[in-house]
Amino acid sequence: MSGGHVLRPADLDDATRVALVARARALKAADPVPVPSRLRVGALYFDPSLRTRASFEQAARVLGGSCQTLNAGNDTWTLELDPDAVMDGAAVENVVEAARVLGRLFHVLGVRAFRGARPWAVDRTEPVISAIAAHAGVPVISLEGASHHPCQGLADLVTLHEQFGDDLSGLPVALCWAFHPRALPPAVPHTFLEQAALAGCDVTVAHPPGFDLDPEVVAQARAAAEARGGGVRVSHDRAEALAGRRVVYVKSWGPLDDRSPTDPALRPWLVDEAALAPAPEARVMHCLPVRRNVVLSGALLDGPRSLVTEQAGNRLWAQAALLELVAQRTGVLS
Ligand code: CP
Repeated sequence: MSGGHVLRPADLDDATRVALVARARALKAADPVPVPSRLRVGALYFDPSLRTRASFEQAARVLGGSCQTLNAGNDTWTLELDPDAVMDGAAVENVVEAARVLGRLFHVLGVRAFRGARPWAVDRTEPVISAIAAHAGVPVISLEGASHHPCQGLADLVTLHEQFGDDLSGLPVALCWAFHPRALPPAVPHTFLEQAALAGCDVTVAHPPGFDLDPEVVAQARAAAEARGGGVRVSHDRAEALAGRRVVYVKSWGPLDDRSPTDPALRPWLVDEAALAPAPEARVMHCLPVRRNVVLSGALLDGPRSLVTEQAGNRLWAQAALLELVAQRTGVLS
């Protein structure tokens, strides 16, 4: 995406991703005393968060700057999300004016806006974050949108490199659907698929029939992976898809245009030790939050195969590296 915005992993080119991972790992190793800087970061949340909010604020502190978090509609006016709306309803301010003002106050903006009640054809364009990016006049970093979660993806990439070294080309990884009672958005599965493909991993995707990810995201990931020594293959047979994988990234998502509760008959898609029998060497990843013993077994989460806490901890360093890069590109940091 132009304008220096980061809304999905593919907004960063290969060389930049490599540099960001190295910088994140260096910051993590050094945990440097922050040098005061003029960097002012804003973070606007339309949806709840634990990890993203805490790690994004702390990432700005690592760089000697500040981060102010605003929860839209709670400690802001009620915001209208449609730039073209006739605003004769409850909303007091449009995201367009809000973005213009926040862009005058902050050097970089983070925005979290999940899926709305919109059709997938609309949500796949990230309508809220894109509107803010179009009007803020400063770089916008997605803190999870409808279709992608690039900060999670970058932290996951750091985690993969920590575990498997500098070259991830051909690494056998799986993205594994898991049961969840609600139809969750596809931002994290899209992001892991895209991020792993851009790293050249050999990705299998396991999900029940009817839970297809966005075909364009899958096609782009396949092309990216194949160009880098990997591949992407989709299967409805979980055991077959997980066989021999070194990483199993567990995540639930709903059909893209059906928000109905998930069929309870799919509860056996819980991921536990038995489910991982075909992948005896696999480490387990999940973005969190996670429903214990519904999505992932408590035994797996607590056991030595789990990387979930490492992933969450790496959010801090990945975002510090990303904020630093974005601030350097705009001349706010040298
Ligand atoms: N993984 C993640 O983004 O967590 P939060 O929703 O708590 O921010």
